[in-house]
Amino acid sequence: MNIMITGGAGFIGNHVVRLFVNKYPQHRIVCADKLTYAGNLANLADVEHRENYCFEHVDICDFDSIVALMRKHNIDGIIHLAAESHVDRSIKDPFTFAQTNVMGTLSLLQAANMCWQGNYEGKRFYHISTDEVYGALQMDNPQGGNEPGGGPWGTAFFTEQTPYHPHSPYSAAKASSDHFVRAFHDTYGMPTLISNCSNNYGPYQFPEKLIPLFINNIRHRRPLPVYGKGENVRDWLFVEDHARAIDLIFHEGRVGDTYNIGGFNEWKNIDLIKVLIRTVDRLLGRADGEDDNLITFVTDRAGHDMRYAIDSRKLKTELGWQPSLQFEEGIERTVKWYLENQAWMDNITSGEYMKYYQEMYANR
Ligand code: NAD
Ligand code: TYD
Repeated sequence: MNIMITGGAGFIGNHVVRLFVNKYPQHRIVCADKLTYAGNLANLADVEHRENYCFEHVDICDFDSIVALMRKHNIDGIIHLAAESHVDRSIKDPFTFAQTNVMGTLSLLQAANMCWQGNYEGKRFYHISTDEVYGALQMDNPQGGNEPGGGPWGTAFFTEQTPYHPHSPYSAAKASSDHFVRAFHDTYGMPTLISNCSNNYGPYQFPEKLIPLFINNIRHRRPLPVYGKGENVRDWLFVEDHARAIDLIFHEGRVGDTYNIGGFNEWKNIDLIKVLIRTVDRLLGRADGEDDNLITFVTDRAGHDMRYAIDSRKLKTELGWQPSLQFEEGIERTVKWYLENQAWMDNITSGEYMKYYQEMYANR
C-alpha cells in the first residue's frame, strides 16, 4: 500500500509513522504535514532516510495540492492525524480550529473521493479522533474508590454509543470532522474508520500539554500552573499503545465502524502532578517533596471538562488490543526521555526549530 499519514510530524503522528516504516517495509509511507508550530521534523530524524518513507510539506486545507499529492504517490490508504489539538489555543482562536479540523478533513475526504472515483477496493480512510467529542462525565465518586464496573472517580464511561456533546471549540471541531467522515461513508460508500482516544502521553509531545510542560517546569523549578483545584480527571494512555491500536484498526477494523481507545487509567490532575514531581526529583537526585511548592493554583480553564473515561472493551473483544504498559512504567519512561532529551525541548522552547523550517521553505 501507499499510505499517507497526515500530521505525521506531530506528537502521535511521529509514533505512527515510525511504527509503520519499521513494521511494513513493503508499504510506502508518505508523511504529509504543514509543519505548524506543533510539527517538528526532528521527531522523525531516525526514519527520514528510510527507503519506504518520504515527507511532503502540505496543508490539508489546500485541496488541489492534496489531490496532486495523492496522484503522485498513488495513495490508497490515509491515516488522518493532522489537526489543531490544544484546547487552550482553541479557546483563543476557534477559527483556526474550524479551518484545519473541519475544512481540512473535508478537503481530504473530497480529495480521496475524487482520486478513488468510487473504486474503493483495497482503500482505507482512517480518521483519528478524540474522546473529548463525547463531552464530560460526572465525578459521582469524588473521594475515589473502585465501584464494581466503574472507574475510580465515577461510574459512567464513554462508549461508542455515547451521544456527542462537545464543549470546547477544539472538541466541537473534532466532532464536526467525525460527522463528515461518517457522512462520506454513508453517502458515497467510502471505506472509512474512526477511533476516539483518551489523553496520550510519552516522548515528543509538544510542551504546551500538561505532562511535558510540567516535567520541563519541574526541572527548571518554574511554577506549575494547575487549573482550578486540580480535581479534573483524565484517562491517560502511552502514545506507543495508541500507535499499536491505530495499526490494528487500520488493517483489521470493520469499515464504517468506530472504536474507542483508552487505558482504563484515570488520574486526577493534582495526583498525576505529584507523581511527576516525585519522579523528576528522584531522577535528578533531589530530595523527595523538594519541589511540591512549585504547585500553583491558577484560574480554571473556561468550560473545563470534569472527567473523561473511555470504555475500550470493544477494541479488546473484537480486535484483541489492550494497553501494554502500566502507568508507572510509562511515566518513568516518559520523564526519563524528556530529561535525557533536553536539547529537543530547548530547541522548541527557544523557537529555534521554527527558524529551521522558515529557512528550509523560505523560497518555495
Ligand atoms: P499535535 O498538535 O502534536 O500534531 C498535529 C500535527 O498536525 C502537527 O505535525 C502539525 O504540523 C500538523 N498540522 C496541523 N495543521 C495542519 C494542516 N492544516 N495541514 C497539515 N498538517 C497540519 O497533535 P497530536 O497530539 O499528535 O494529535 C494528533 C491527532 O490525534 C489529532 O487529530 C488529535 O485530535 C488526536 N488526538 C490526540 C490526543 C492527544 O492526547 N494528544 C488524544 C486523542 C486524539
Ligand atoms: P491537556 O494536556 O491540555 O489535555 P486536555 O485538555 O486535552 O485534556 O490538559 C490535561 C489536563 O491538565 C486538563 O484537565 C487541563 C489541565 N492543565 C492544567 O491544569 N494546567 C496546564 O498548564 C495545562 C496545560 C493543563
